[in-house]
Amino acid sequence: MWRYVMTTFGDQKEFWGHRENPKLVGDFINRPAVIRMIGDVKGKGILEAGCGSGYFASLLAQKGGIVWGIDKDTNILREAERSNTLGIRYQPGCIERLPYDDDSFDVVTLTSVLMYNDSEVMREAYVQAWKGTKPGGRVIVSVPHPYLYLPGSMARSEDISWLKLNSHGTSVERTEVFTQEYFDIHGNSSVLDVYDHPTDDYVNFGLQAGLSLLRMESVKFPEELTKRSPGWGKTWGYDAYLLLEFSA
Ligand SMILES: C[S@@+](CC[C@H](N)C(=O)[O-])C[C@H]1O[C@@H](n2cnc3c(N)ncnc32)[C@H](O)[C@@H]1O
Repeated sequence: MWRYVMTTFGDQKEFWGHRENPKLVGDFINRPAVIRMIGDVKGKGILEAGCGSGYFASLLAQKGGIVWGIDKDTNILREAERSNTLGIRYQPGCIERLPYDDDSFDVVTLTSVLMYNDSEVMREAYVQAWKGTKPGGRVIVSVPHPYLYLPGSMARSEDISWLKLNSHGTSVERTEVFTQEYFDIHGNSSVLDVYDHPTDDYVNFGLQAGLSLLRMESVKFPEELTKRSPGWGKTWGYDAYLLLEFSA
């Protein structure tokens, strides 16, 4: 019997803590795709909103971005600080209440973070991202692809090796809550609650906040990745992540 787990990233530091090398599916597929979408970051002010242990913030800083990171989980932020050799400005805080002046950043990234929040928080996070971004700057959103959560999808009906979903059947504004077990390259797993927001909410909440949609991209699970871990075998060819690029 699966139950809500309500655990935090900081409670699962062995899994989500500092890492030098890619080990999560998102490190191989999602984060490189977001980097490609942003393009040249040299000299740009970037807020990594929901930065966790700073893996993605560090990639941006290595490429020459001037990076800020915010996260509500102070335990995981300590991990980020512990490995902060690139001068990233980390601070505790929520994506739905950003402690920065308006028009502070060229780019705000919400990388694998919105799905851990309900619709109300997500709506406000978009408003805050729009406010924090300079006019003409960009807001980049990436989430596991909402297709994965549809009734009848492999993730719901059988073991797809990197993601196992168990629905709580709770429906709030068409958003279902799942317990998700997520596997890394070594077969270790982390269990967290996630919200299955429909694709149109990911787009429309951004538009309603005042952003303009520039691009939407589905990133597929590539065949070569199935060979990286014995557990990552079954899903190649499926849409794994959804990326949205908005302009402020
Ligand atoms: C999967 S991690 C992603 C980390 C980072 N963005 C990356 O891609 O490397 C998600 C992070 O989002 C944070 N988070 C979730 N909801 C948040 C909120 N409402 N405000 C601030 N941080 C949040 C969690 O604490 C966690 O550290």
